[in-house]
Amino acid sequence: MQLAEIGIIGGSGLYAMPGLTGIHEERVETPFGDPSDAFVLGELEGRKVAFLARHGRGHRLLPSELNFRANIYAMKKLGVERILSVSAVGSLKEEHKPTDFVIPDQFIDRTFARNATFFGDGIVGHVSFGDPVCATAARAIEGACASQGVVGKLGGTYICIEGPQFSTRAESNLYRSWGADVIGMTNLQEAKLAREAEICYATMAMVTDYDCWREGHDDVTVDQIVAVLNQNAANAALVVKAAVAAMPKERGCACASALKFAILTNPAVIPA
Ligand code: ADE
Repeated sequence: MQLAEIGIIGGSGLYAMPGLTGIHEERVETPFGDPSDAFVLGELEGRKVAFLARHGRGHRLLPSELNFRANIYAMKKLGVERILSVSAVGSLKEEHKPTDFVIPDQFIDRTFARNATFFGDGIVGHVSFGDPVCATAARAIEGACASQGVVGKLGGTYICIEGPQFSTRAESNLYRSWGADVIGMTNLQEAKLAREAEICYATMAMVTDYDCWREGHDDVTVDQIVAVLNQNAANAALVVKAAVAAMPKERGCACASALKFAILTNPAVIPA
């Protein structure tokens, strides 16, 4: 039975989903261990959704401690076809101001200590990842921002760092020289695993700070991030709600068939 159609992963500052009705909690078991927390299942705008607090309620898990595989596997098990992710990010460009939302369409990987594939252990597969974000889901978020009077910019490159420390100034400037737009610590592995699970994935990246590259301004601190998140949590919830309402019911995108040409292993020729 499909328990949820749309998954919402709430990041820093969004640990519950306001407006969810008929809720119940579900602890989902996976072959990869425990997801970040129990899922909160309910209805939003007439759609069945599953909400997961990425870092756990109470914010207990570091980015490197997240069990990305368990989180995405559990979404799949619940029947989720599309994931809307909410995350706090630093801005690498003057034009992306704290409280703006960026909806990235590209990623750069600067992580080194994460397991981000369901393949291995005898099954070899390589999914296409040139377009790592579902364009339909991203457009729904863009429209939702516009309808809620929130600045929402479609497109941009998200650089994903290991953390938990923020970047050095040299790193921050390097990422700027690469043309990256925003910096965060969590979204890339979710996007990779969602693709392997044939789930659409898009993120609303809420700008909370200017990292440490901007001369004459303080370097990013958690205090600064929390202050912006507190101002912005209500907006994030409004945008999620409007994006859920705007999400087409039918899936016409390629995300749903990502595995069609991805698997190399031929079970017929595996030696005994
Ligand atoms: N999340 C929010 N701001 C960040 C920053 N400056 N670097 C990495 N992750 C962040």
